[in-house]
Amino acid sequence: MTTGEPAILVRATPALAAVAVAETLVNALVASAAKRGRADLASTGGSTPAAVYRALLAEPLRARLPWDVLHLWVGDDRFVPRGDPDCNLGAIDLVLLPGDARRGLAPAPLDPAHVHAWPIDAALAAGESPAWATARFEETLRTELAADAAGRPVFAAILVGIGSDGHVLSVFPGSAAFDAPGWTTWAPAPTHIAPHLDRVTLTPLALDATPGLVVAAFGAGKAAIVGELLGPGHRDPAARAAAERHLPALRARRAGATWVLDAAAAAGLAVDDPRDLR
Ligand code: 6PG
Repeated sequence: MTTGEPAILVRATPALAAVAVAETLVNALVASAAKRGRADLASTGGSTPAAVYRALLAEPLRARLPWDVLHLWVGDDRFVPRGDPDCNLGAIDLVLLPGDARRGLAPAPLDPAHVHAWPIDAALAAGESPAWATARFEETLRTELAADAAGRPVFAAILVGIGSDGHVLSVFPGSAAFDAPGWTTWAPAPTHIAPHLDRVTLTPLALDATPGLVVAAFGAGKAAIVGELLGPGHRDPAARAAAERHLPALRARRAGATWVLDAAAAAGLAVDDPRDLR
């Protein structure tokens, strides 16, 4: 059960909000590098990460980020080959590997061997299933990543978006991922939301123990779901735990997480919200 409340940062525009996301991630990654000599970041799909990656590449964050010990994990993906427009590696490949030269940004000093994609290409080549790719990715994660005392994966930071249906990562309303025992699982193609492709994803456990959990929601299209997820109806932790199966992103409403909104997405928050809105 998650308890407490996240910090909520509201910025005027999506561009400023992307910088706030990047700053929050860098703070967590720097802390992890100092403590453990390694900085594991899990990222997600959707439209948000590309702007965040560009903010990481620009000064002053570029100089602060411990690039040499940064490991970038794809938090969830669609069961399509790398290079497919629906593959969540797209923003990583475009912006971070080899660098967004079209915007005048120098190539990222990110070691391509530190980018951890789900082995979907290998699965497709071998005629294997999403479940196979999921099991292989879990093996890699358990070799490389720390676990907390409860056996949950501990990234230094995780960036997630939220869907208009309340999904997070590729954990959709009603998902069996809440009952999955491990760190990864797969889901058949959702019918209610595009793209209609099988998914592989970290389970909700990944959201629990990570110090730098950052939720990014930008645009007027997110105002209603942000208002629902952060609203007074889910203030009670026990009720929140019961509701998360239908609103999976509620799992990220917890102390220690940071939700970053632009003004349009924050329009659904109550004006007298007692929390610290900066
Ligand atoms: C996916 C994503 C998904 C995404 C949200 C928010 O593969 O579809 O992992 O969880 O992050 O739908 O997407 P936006 O950033 O586009 O709002």
